[in-house]
Amino acid sequence: MEEDEPETLICEEPYLVMLPGPTNVPLEVMRALLRPIVNHRGYDFGALYRRLRGKLQAVFDTKGEVVILTASGTGGIQASLEVVVRPGSRILVTAHGEFGRRAAAFARALGAEVIALDAPLGDVPAWEAIEREARRARPSVLYAVANETSTGVRLPYLKELGELARELGAFYVVDAVSHLGGQELYMDAWNIDICFTGSQKCLAAPAGLCPVALSERAVEFMKRDRPRESYFDLLSYVEYAERGETPFTPAVSLFYALDEAVNLLLREGLMARIERHRRCAFRLYEGLSKLGFAPLAKQEVASYTSLAFRCPPGIRATELRELLRKRHMVLVSSGFGPLRDSLLRLGCMGIVNDYHVNRTLSALGEALSSLGAQNLKAGA
Ligand SMILES: Cc1ncc(COP(=O)(O)O)c(C=O)c1O
Repeated sequence: MEEDEPETLICEEPYLVMLPGPTNVPLEVMRALLRPIVNHRGYDFGALYRRLRGKLQAVFDTKGEVVILTASGTGGIQASLEVVVRPGSRILVTAHGEFGRRAAAFARALGAEVIALDAPLGDVPAWEAIEREARRARPSVLYAVANETSTGVRLPYLKELGELARELGAFYVVDAVSHLGGQELYMDAWNIDICFTGSQKCLAAPAGLCPVALSERAVEFMKRDRPRESYFDLLSYVEYAERGETPFTPAVSLFYALDEAVNLLLREGLMARIERHRRCAFRLYEGLSKLGFAPLAKQEVASYTSLAFRCPPGIRATELRELLRKRHMVLVSSGFGPLRDSLLRLGCMGIVNDYHVNRTLSALGEALSSLGAQNLKAGA
């Protein structure tokens, strides 16, 4: 341990996790991890899995199938693409950040012709460009990243994309990894065929599970045109789910935790939770702006769940991040790739509340003053 590491680590004081994933996990959810191991091909897991799938239908707002992969969110990208992409398929992807670009690359690897629509940093592809390209190229799949975590922007036209997909007869796939449970999404009403999330984001459970919801149309399609043999074969997941199982060994302990996390979410109420995310995000945008950070996202598309800011002049994000960790026990993230040192990224997900916001803002204020003082000294 470095000399200036805080002693608090010794007594296991937890960090305040303000990362854009994973997020803080409530103690009752962590405790659920300790429940006994059961046969994943037996009664107990079957009952748990059925119950949890039913509750997740409420979170996705769907009457369709929900299955759970033992995988991180990227498993959902791979699994959903394997359902709808065949060699030569044409797919339109909102690729204005890391996660859309990853999906575009995966789709290309499956042999798809990809129309990747980019946008200036902090913005989303223009709706007009999407409509124009979709009508021109008539893709068989529209793929959207509901909330682009890398740049802190949310797509404002998820519903309209669903209408466009219906008009074109295209499948509509939505990556809701940093969105579901924190911002609005109505799977059935918005005509979404496949939607997935990650347990470690707004659901506030440990990482490692990827709930995937499927429309009846997507399931029918899989039955007619079976996806290739794969670890992520969603048709097998649907077939096994009917008997309360998953095709391969599930991380049972994580299922216990996710079940508890979803109980907490439903007890609070989905809309109340979304409103809490929005309120905390507004306070963070306001507070950080007063401290001299500039939101990266254009205001009308600024995310309520993952926030990205340009640092004030002379402040390096990596240095600030480490100071917050060591001295204040607050975890935040720096930028992606070339933006590593210029962007500060915060999560505002899961159980985020006013106390978390206040503590983050006061830690940031103090850290900035001490970095400013250091810089002054170095320059003197
Ligand atoms: C929007 C989005 N999609 C996909 C992923 C990939 O998820 P994971 O890192 O859990 O594989 C992430 C992770 O941050 C994400 O934010």
